[in-house]
Amino acid sequence: MRTVLGHFASGVVVITASGPDGPLGFTCQSFSSLSLEPPLVSFCPARSSTTWPKIREVGQFCVNVLADGHAELSTAFARSGTDKYAGVRWTPAPSGAPILEGVAAWTDCSLEYEYPGGDHTIVAGRVHDLDSDASRAPLLFHRGVYRVAAPSPR
Ligand SMILES: Cc1cc2nc3c(=O)[nH]c(=O)nc-3n(C[C@H](O)[C@H](O)[C@H](O)COP(=O)(O)O)c2cc1C
Repeated sequence: MRTVLGHFASGVVVITASGPDGPLGFTCQSFSSLSLEPPLVSFCPARSSTTWPKIREVGQFCVNVLADGHAELSTAFARSGTDKYAGVRWTPAPSGAPILEGVAAWTDCSLEYEYPGGDHTIVAGRVHDLDSDASRAPLLFHRGVYRVAAPSPR
C-alpha cells in the first residue's frame, strides 16, 4: 500500500507547537485544506507519534508548508527523540507556535476535532491566522523522494 500510494505526490508540512518544555514539531505529508467556512485544515498523525500527544495537549499549533531547500529540515523533524530544533531558526506565530524560517506558507490553528483513523488519527484544525511567501517554491514528496515542482510544459 505504501509503494502504490507513494505515487500520489504531496507537499510536506511540519506541525509545530509551543510546549511547556520548549518548541515541538513533526513532519507530516497527510495535510489538506478541509473547509473555507469555517476555515479548517486537516492532517493525520500516526498513533506511534510521540510528538502529536504533546501538541494535542497544547491545543494550538502551526502548520508550516515546507519550501525548496527544506529537505534536511523535513528529515530532522521526522526523527523521533532527537533535538529537532538544533540550528533551526524560527519566529513565533500568534499562538506562540514556531514559524520555521523560509516556509512557503503557514497557518496558525487551534485543535477543533480528532477522529479515529486506523493506525493514524484524523485531526481538524481551525485556522486563526495565516500567511504565504509566493517567492518560495514548495517542497514535494513522491515515491519516497523529495522533489521540486516544475511547470508542466503544456
Ligand atoms: C515526507 C514525510 C512525511 C510524513 N508524513 C507523516 C504523516 O502524515 N503523519 C505522521 O504521523 N507521520 C508522518 N511522517 C513521519 C513523522 O514525521 C515521524 O514519524 C515523527 O515525526 C516521529 O517523531 P515523533 O515521535 O517526535 O512524533 C512523515 C515523515 C516524512 C519524512
